[in-house]
Amino acid sequence: MPEPAASSADATASTEQRLGTTGVAHRDVGGAEAESANLAWWDTDADDYHATHGEFLGDADFVWCPEGVCEEDARLLGDVRGRRVLEVGCGQAACSRWLAAAGADAVGTDLSAGMLRHARAGNDRTGVSVPLVQANAERLPFSDSSFDVACSAFGALPFVPSLETVFAEVRRVLRPGTPWVFSVTHPMRWIFPDDPGPQGLTVTQPYFDRTPYVEVDDGGAATYVEYHRTVGDYVRALAATGFALEDLLEPEWPAGHTRTWGQWSPLRGRLFPGTAIFRTRRG
Ligand SMILES: C[S@@+](CC[C@H](N)C(=O)[O-])C[C@H]1O[C@@H](n2cnc3c(N)ncnc32)[C@H](O)[C@@H]1O
Repeated sequence: MPEPAASSADATASTEQRLGTTGVAHRDVGGAEAESANLAWWDTDADDYHATHGEFLGDADFVWCPEGVCEEDARLLGDVRGRRVLEVGCGQAACSRWLAAAGADAVGTDLSAGMLRHARAGNDRTGVSVPLVQANAERLPFSDSSFDVACSAFGALPFVPSLETVFAEVRRVLRPGTPWVFSVTHPMRWIFPDDPGPQGLTVTQPYFDRTPYVEVDDGGAATYVEYHRTVGDYVRALAATGFALEDLLEPEWPAGHTRTWGQWSPLRGRLFPGTAIFRTRRG
């Protein structure tokens, strides 16, 4: 449960306090309400997110997940040299800068101006300047068949009501036969509380219940929305939008990796997967 709301003038207030979050609901949320809630949430949380995770994510590194899988080692996107690459939900765009440094013509897109402010700062800091476009992944402002690769590290997908809408947009802007690779929270995590400790080891809700997790203010308006899909839901949405699934990676928690990220922790990581990485290809 979020902390009680504080004045938005309080510089030490949490994102939940600034947004007036006072509770949690499980209810359906349509596209317009989800978009405005998540836009406000990511804009408000951008500085905290960067302060908390920026060092782990690096300035020009491609980190797929809290388990620390890096594209430098995993090479899930294939050879990106000379390829036009779209990053969906790029946040501070460290992945896009890694891609650019690896020889790709990378473009970072994100819904949140606050997150893109950190992306611009990263461009300035590193001297690796990737183009940044503010856009909802449900409506990508690019022409058909204009990219050779698309990727996303925990960007956009958990926050939109329809996977099919985003997948269809990604398919539209990709050329035939090209890869679409994305990481998301592993669907099995939904059944546990968001707790990195022992409390997070007890099942509290059904895997099959797709009702979104919603944080709300006093008036019941959504201040944060996250959607759940089962593994089968991802597979069906990919098949329905013309992607072939080539691999589903479930990274194991590496020995000696002690860093906790929200509900991701060594304790839970040793027992069950926290991330799913879908490696797919457009038909
Ligand atoms: C968990 S962050 C991931 C960012 C980055 N890949 C990283 O690893 O830090 C999720 C990102 O998705 C973005 N996002 C949320 N909803 C989106 C949407 N509908 N379209 C595009 N981006 C969205 C957020 O603004 C945020 O930057």
